[in-house]
This record gives sequence, C-alpha cells and structure tokens, in this order.
Amino acid sequence: MHVRPRRSVLYMPGANKRAFEKAKTLPADSLILDLEDSVAPEAKAQARDSVCAAVKAGGYGHRELVIRVNAIETPWGMDDLRAAVAAVPDAILVPKVSQPGDIVTAAKVLGSVHAPGKTRLWAMMETPKSMLNAREIAALGTEPEHRLACLVMGTNDLLKESRARALHNRIAIVPWLAMTLVAARAFGLDILDGVYNDFRDEEGFREECEHGRTLGMDGKTLIHPSQVTPCNEIFSPTDEEVTWSRAIIAAFDKHENDHKGVITVDGKMVERLHLAMAERTVAIADAIDTMRSAEAA
Ligand code: COA
Ligand code: MG
Repeated sequence: MHVRPRRSVLYMPGANKRAFEKAKTLPADSLILDLEDSVAPEAKAQARDSVCAAVKAGGYGHRELVIRVNAIETPWGMDDLRAAVAAVPDAILVPKVSQPGDIVTAAKVLGSVHAPGKTRLWAMMETPKSMLNAREIAALGTEPEHRLACLVMGTNDLLKESRARALHNRIAIVPWLAMTLVAARAFGLDILDGVYNDFRDEEGFREECEHGRTLGMDGKTLIHPSQVTPCNEIFSPTDEEVTWSRAIIAAFDKHENDHKGVITVDGKMVERLHLAMAERTVAIADAIDTMRSAEAA
C-alpha cells in the first residue's frame, strides 16, 4: 500500500525568502509556497520569481513542494500557473475553487504545456459555493486527467464569507469540515484541515489538531514553524495504534484464519474492514519512519 504522510503542511509567504531557507530545516511533510493571499499585489511578480526559483533549486529532501497560485481570473493567475508548471512542483494549489470547472480549467492548462504527470492539483475549499459543490469537485478525483489529489480547507475564508463566528469548538464550521471530508473520501482524495491563526497558543493549537484528527483529516495546514512538531505528533499513529494494527495483521495472517471474515483479537471482534484500517495505519507509520531515517542520514 502506498501512502504519502501529509500531517504537517506549512504555508510560506512567497515574498519571504528567509522562510524558504528555514523550511529546509523543519520536519514538515509538505510546504506550500504561497503567491496568493499572503503576498501584496505589488510584490506578486517578484514573489513568483523567487518561489519558482526556490522550487527549481530544490534542497527540500522528502518535503513535498506545493505552489499556491492566484486564481486564474485574477491579473496574475495565468502567469503564475505557467511559471509554476515550469518549476515542476509536486502540486499546484488552486485557490477559491467554487466549481469543478475551476480544476478542469487548471488541468487543461497543465496538459496544454505538457506538465509532467508528477505535478498534481490541490483545491482550496473556502467559498460557500465550494461547500455546495464539494461532491462534484471531489468527484474529479476519480478521473486522472484532472490531476486532483488533495482538498485543503480554507477556514479563514469560509468564516469571512459565511459571517460565522470563530469559536474554539468550531461549531459553525464543523458541518462543512465533515461534509467536505466525506466528499474527499468518497472519491479517494486526501484532505487537510485549515490553519490556526493564534500561533503563540500551543495548547489551543493542539486541541484543534486533535479535533481535526478526530474528524478524519489527514493533516493540518500550518502558518508557523512552531506548529510543525506538535502537529506531526498528533497526526501520527500512536505506538498503541501501531501495536494493535500489527496484532490484527498477524492474526489474519494465521493459516487458520485464511477464510474467516471475523475473528477475535485480545477479546475484541475484528473484521476484515479492521484489517484494511490496520494496513493503512502501519503503512503510514512505516512511511514516517522512512522519512525520519532519510532525514537523519
Ligand atoms: N515558514 C517558514 N519559516 C517561517 C514561517 C513560515 N510560515 N513563519 C515564520 N518563519 C520563520 C521566520 O522567518 C523566522 O526565521 P529566522 O529565525 O530565520 O528569522 C522564524 O521563523 C521566527 O519567526 P517569528 O518571528 O516567530 O514570526 P514572524 O513574526 O516573523 O511571522 C507570521 C509571523 C504569521 C507573519 C509568519 O509566521 C507567516 O508569514 N506565516 C505564514 C502566513 C501565510 O503563509 N499565510 C497564508 C496562508 S493562511
Ligand atoms: Mg484563502
């Protein structure tokens, strides 16, 4: 089973070259180099050059590199998309996706310039229309030509657009998080939780990571280096989860269980659906270990 851990996904403003260097030392699974909302209009062209140069130069090891472009209909969108493709990132993050056509159009641009297959598309889910169209957007995930691999919750924009209140329990946005999550799963996509703005508040941040993990998120988008380590910790399988998963796999591996759909492990009922979950947990834990050893080498 191939899985790509996306526990910690750190945004960096495209105008902050110091952050690009710092990111090479941070244990983030993925990095989003941003050309959109964290870059002022007058700095857009310069940021595009720096971001694409940094991605081309590489040096980021196992970290997945993602460029967030401006929306195609903005004055910078097309130039961003073409420059991003030429830098060959792992993915291009399309902002303010509202309907499937936004991804289809971006995929067509990538196809027209023969972008390598490795460059996938990620979609920001952050407008009211994206919530209404989550199913149709996520459904593109089953058609490889659209390159869609991951949905990213844009919770700040959703709060702005909906006029909801940002409470600690996220009561207003939980329905949208959960609904977009099932849309992602229905069509085989990964999904990342939104950012926690109060980056000096580690306790509140940890609670929100736990909340996202409980909802089923694969990981969380981050804004500050201090958020990476706690986020990795919370979105990694725990030792107990890995031990329990290995016990399930070992039990189903026994010859006498070859033809059984349900068995007992440590006094608990375990079905083959639990075996599939266990295999995924172990695959993620192994992938994390591989990344750690590569980093240490
Ligand atoms: N990625 C990588 N490095 C970062 C970083 C990030 N997102 N945010 C801060 N750093 C670096 C700083 O450059 C600084 O590096 P240095 O020690 O080499 O000087 C160090 O981490 C400490 O930064 P700090 O002083 O604590 O933060 P700040 O006050 O400079 O910046 C923010 C705070 C919020 C402005 C900054 O973290 C940031 O820009 N975050 C990302 C915002 C973003 O991309 N938003 C768009 C999506 S929501
Ligand atoms: Mg946004």
